[in-house]
Amino acid sequence: MSRQVIEHIQGRATSDGDGVKLKRIFGGARPQRFDPFLMLDEFGSEEASDYIGGFPPHPHRGFETVTYMLQGKMEHRDHMNNVGLLADGGVQWMTAGRGIIHSEMPQQTEGKMRGFQLWLNLPSEKKMQAARYEDVAPEAIPVYEFEGVTVKALAGQAEIDGTQVQGYFDVPDTEVLYLDVHLAPGKGVSVPVAETHNALVYVYEGQALVGASASPIGAQSVARLGEGENIQVCNEGDIETRVLILAGRPLREPITQYGPFVMNTTEEIEQAINDYRNGTLTDVAV
Ligand code: FE2
Repeated sequence: MSRQVIEHIQGRATSDGDGVKLKRIFGGARPQRFDPFLMLDEFGSEEASDYIGGFPPHPHRGFETVTYMLQGKMEHRDHMNNVGLLADGGVQWMTAGRGIIHSEMPQQTEGKMRGFQLWLNLPSEKKMQAARYEDVAPEAIPVYEFEGVTVKALAGQAEIDGTQVQGYFDVPDTEVLYLDVHLAPGKGVSVPVAETHNALVYVYEGQALVGASASPIGAQSVARLGEGENIQVCNEGDIETRVLILAGRPLREPITQYGPFVMNTTEEIEQAINDYRNGTLTDVAV
């Protein structure tokens, strides 16, 4: 049985960092709905003034951020002295764990900048693990071509049209599937996912018919899917449709968020705030 669309959410305009304009697709309210995902933002503008401020140094604790750059250049720096350039089509997977302090700054002063940042929760026993990060060049991310359908596999695995699709990242804790799928007009795709997993389809270009009832989902909106064996997405428009398909095994743990800290209890949030104030947020446990 194909999954049905059970909620349709339009991204809303907001800003973060130093005045970077972005669309918050989901995040904040009732995060259990998307468990293990906490938030999805799309940032994108042709106007340098919308992104030039970037994200000056700020902390995170308790989860992971996955930044997928479609177009543009962004530099990451963190307290571990990592410096990485995230460029057109590249992905950065950052595990904040116990704590990271980093900046994400545009390395361009004109032209288009566009991409996504996904927040992925960590299970309670991994929230205080050491921080780490990995930059992945665009050419390292596996791409699968089907007739009229291109699948860029960022994470996880699925059998699509008889082909075993294997993403670059493997996330054992939550078995995350993260695909960027481009559909030519008239084409569709069916992606099997475990029935226990939460799943969503975010349309970022064009229009898609999603799920068993072919619910129309427009650009910059997300379809949250109910239970079922697979995710169906079709493009019946006359331009290419581009979607992110996300699925993951829910952690089913309490979620307490305070800005850039996501823990299980308010005591742990207070600890994070105190550690940040005291300069010990990023200290590696001995
Ligand atoms: Fe950040």
